[in-house]
Amino acid sequence: VSVNETLALANACVTAVAVVCMTAGFVAIRRKNIARHRRLMIAATTASALFMVGFVVRFARFGFRPFSGGAGWRNVYQLVFFTHEPLAVINVPLVLGALTLGLRRRFKTHREVARVALVVWLYVCLSGIAVFALLHFSPGR
Ligand code: HEM
Repeated sequence: VSVNETLALANACVTAVAVVCMTAGFVAIRRKNIARHRRLMIAATTASALFMVGFVVRFARFGFRPFSGGAGWRNVYQLVFFTHEPLAVINVPLVLGALTLGLRRRFKTHREVARVALVVWLYVCLSGIAVFALLHFSPGR
């Protein structure tokens, strides 16, 4: 298996870790466990930051991977990819903003920003994993 494929899988895996941490982090704050929420959201941000490193390395080293599945799956891929991509860009300042506000204990503003950030972040991660699966396992090649 190539370095490129291994990195792609590692990126999908850290993204799955981010999804688990942010979901558990949300459950924690709903249960009013601030310390646990803080830890889990820092863990989720770290996982997504690791993804970013892996993504940049992969993109710089191997470039863009075109879709090579069948025609029907191409429509699915494009729908997922072209919503994933702009939201992934918007997601970066949203998550960093939510994190900073939380760490600075500006909780009222944090709550407002973080509610949007969490929904966007979750969608970006899940659609990112879907993009990975579609690129690597779409039938009809
Ligand atoms: C990217 C990181 C973070 C995200 C996405 C996030 C997400 C959220 C969300 C969605 C809520 C609202 C929950 C609800 O609807 O009831 C919330 C509330 C809260 N978060 Fe975070 N959080 C993050 C980091 C942090 C950090 C680092 C702290 C630091 C202690 C923190 C402390 C809190 C507190 C105290 C609340 C309750 C605010 C209130 O209800 O007035 N969060 N967070």
